[in-house]
Amino acid sequence: MPDDLINLTIDGVPLSVPKGMLVIEAAKQAGVLVPHYCYHPGLPVAGVCRMCLVEIEKAPKLQIACATQVAEGMVVRTQSPQAKDARMGVLELLLINHPDVLYVPNRCILCTRCVRFMEDIAQEPVLNVSERGDRAYIGVHPEARLDHPWAGNVVDLCPVGSLLSKDFLHKARAWELDKTASVCTGCSQGCNVTLDEALERVAALLRGAGGGGGGGGTAVALVSPRASTEALFLARELFAGFDWTGAFQVVMGEEAPLAGVPNLALRAERAPNGAGAELLGYTRDYAAALRAAESAALLFVLDEPELSVRTAGALIYAGTVLPDGARDAHVVLPLANVAEEDGTYVNRDGRAQRYFQAKPAPGMARPAWWVLAELGAALGRSRPLGSAAEAFERLATTVEPFRGLSYAELALTGRRLSPGAAVPA
Ligand code: FES
Repeated sequence: MPDDLINLTIDGVPLSVPKGMLVIEAAKQAGVLVPHYCYHPGLPVAGVCRMCLVEIEKAPKLQIACATQVAEGMVVRTQSPQAKDARMGVLELLLINHPDVLYVPNRCILCTRCVRFMEDIAQEPVLNVSERGDRAYIGVHPEARLDHPWAGNVVDLCPVGSLLSKDFLHKARAWELDKTASVCTGCSQGCNVTLDEALERVAALLRGAGGGGGGGGTAVALVSPRASTEALFLARELFAGFDWTGAFQVVMGEEAPLAGVPNLALRAERAPNGAGAELLGYTRDYAAALRAAESAALLFVLDEPELSVRTAGALIYAGTVLPDGARDAHVVLPLANVAEEDGTYVNRDGRAQRYFQAKPAPGMARPAWWVLAELGAALGRSRPLGSAAEAFERLATTVEPFRGLSYAELALTGRRLSPGAAVPA
């Protein structure tokens, strides 16, 4: 090995990297994205935000990965409890001193709606009219903070857009959003809310995790073997350019053959589309995918009800039900279930078979192929799709085992995939 290579371990992954490389850059080679704010690979190191703290064996205290060079035999842990606690503390400090509500004084007409809301409704009088005459502006009492649980309402109350939510800043106007009346599920109060903007939000998260669309980000897809072949295919398309891992888990039961009928049994694998998932590049190494998810920039979960996963990145959940493990997801997309959509499965013998919609999907739930195709379109990668048949046709022109099949020809009996296809036993 050349002298100018340094051997080290990051989160258990052994690496050889050039001498002088920063730990934060070496970590990328181990598939680990160390959280950071002030660091940028094209700028001189400042080391001021402390978001990149990591544990380095034998070092007396945590070190910032953006200003620490690799050393021979170094053992770095980015996910140790000490490192994570420290980064959480830094984040809390940054957020405490970071307004969520912005004030643009030159728009303000001093109607004092916000002041009166905080005084009379929230009963936490933290806002006031500071100064007088043409210098007057909406101020915050010196010892107070606008952090009441209802404080976000002042943004909606402001008639001139002087108080702004950071969620909207430079992104959208309220009137540009599709809205649907709904009820908040956060507690038993039953507050009326509106549902907006989720597909664009997912597209933005994908762009962010993938390096602004340039690719190269790490992503993990945990998918259900009950998802349609079309959904599994379109989910895979979303990760083009990512360093991605896709996996599924199968619930196992007892195999129960029907005596006297060859090749007919209640199969041990209680999953209708495990073969389809494997043909599309998803593996059964679910445990490895869970480990990869911990440090991935993006975790996408497709209808996995037994979800128990930790991730440092953005979690997007699309499913027919909302498991507890997905309640903190950045975005949740409701999906139609098997009775509410068209699609195909590939069985254990490699036969692609169609299933048909039996009833409409409730509420905002949509077929997974539709949701994923819309996401592809939002990313500018592909056109939207109008039916499961169109999704299957796209699959059949791109993925070898399906090549030449047509959705219409599958009819009710299905078709065996091409004999050369690597169909699992
Ligand atoms: S990224 Fe800011 S201190 Fe390292």
